[in-house]
Amino acid sequence: MRAVRFHEHGGPEVLTVDEVDDPVPDHGQVLVDVEAAAVNPVDTYFREGEYSVPHLPFIGGSDVAGTVAAVGDGVEAFAVGDRVFGTGLGNGMPGSYAERVAAPADVLAHLPEEVAFDDAAALALVGTTAWQGLVHHAGTEPAETVLVHGGSGGVGHVAIQLAETMGARVLATASPEHADEVDALGASEVLDYARDDLAEAVADAGGADVIVDLHMDRYLQFNADVANVGARVIGIGNDTSSGGFDDIGVTKGKEIRYQFMSMYNADDIGAVLTRLADLCARDEVSPVIHETYDLEATGEAQRAVLEDSFVGKLVLTP
Ligand SMILES: NC(=O)c1ccc[n+]([C@@H]2O[C@H](COP(=O)([O-])OP(=O)(O)OC[C@H]3O[C@@H](n4cnc5c(N)ncnc54)[C@H](OP(=O)(O)O)[C@@H]3O)[C@@H](O)[C@H]2O)c1
Repeated sequence: MRAVRFHEHGGPEVLTVDEVDDPVPDHGQVLVDVEAAAVNPVDTYFREGEYSVPHLPFIGGSDVAGTVAAVGDGVEAFAVGDRVFGTGLGNGMPGSYAERVAAPADVLAHLPEEVAFDDAAALALVGTTAWQGLVHHAGTEPAETVLVHGGSGGVGHVAIQLAETMGARVLATASPEHADEVDALGASEVLDYARDDLAEAVADAGGADVIVDLHMDRYLQFNADVANVGARVIGIGNDTSSGGFDDIGVTKGKEIRYQFMSMYNADDIGAVLTRLADLCARDEVSPVIHETYDLEATGEAQRAVLEDSFVGKLVLTP
């Protein structure tokens, strides 16, 4: 099969399309014929060596959608021919940037006919992340106000839709060029993240009960300032600098809870994906696909996911 591998760590140029042996599903694994694989910032962290990989050369790629080609021993939930999607690949095991991938059954879910493969791949990692943050960690309730930083991004554009579906009121930040599209996702107000009076604007809009933060180093104090009493701040971004508080006292007075999280720690990915697929089939949560690439263009897609500004996701189709 064809697979995109990096033989050494480095920039997008280290990715090559190689002919490799088909994977064989191990105990508890499912062999998936890949129809679509989304591109995530984290895929570039593994390529660059910021996150470790078990060996080189290595096939990256977190999200997959496709058809079951074979099942390993002990797999009962899936059968050959099933439509499936999954996430969490490429972390300690080969990823989905290939024509076939052997994936653990517990990070897969059945995919309803109504959901296209590219939408499923686009939704998997970002949807699981948004779910883990909004549902598991924040316990978001109807009529609460959720602030989503970076509402045009992969996680942000799904978090807006999920929060709105849960009955929350959503404030989102975005660049002005994306404001209309982010608004159409279900945000009740879209604020330019670069405006000087952003904190006042959020306060004027009623403050926030739940904050989904993709840029934690930048917004630690901001989040504390705009949070309502009892707010939950969910830290998701990959920031490596700590930022800091100018006035940490406000966090105590408001009894703010901070939860920094990694999607990889979710122990129920298959169950979360099943719920997300259901929402997607009912058009309650619809991932936006900005552009689709073939395997040869994976390097360009990984450059774009970090450097370009767009709404939604980039998808690879082998
Ligand atoms: N912890 C986890 O489990 C987990 C899971 C998924 C993702 N992540 C991390 O979360 C971050 C976002 O992931 P993603 O897939 O959503 O990335 P993405 O698709 O690249 O989106 C990033 C978003 O941030 C916006 N942005 C840029 N500068 C901003 C600022 N100063 N204030 C507010 N928004 C700003 C961008 O808008 P413009 O393009 O208009 O600038 C864009 O909408 C990444 O660091 C990723 O590694 C972590």
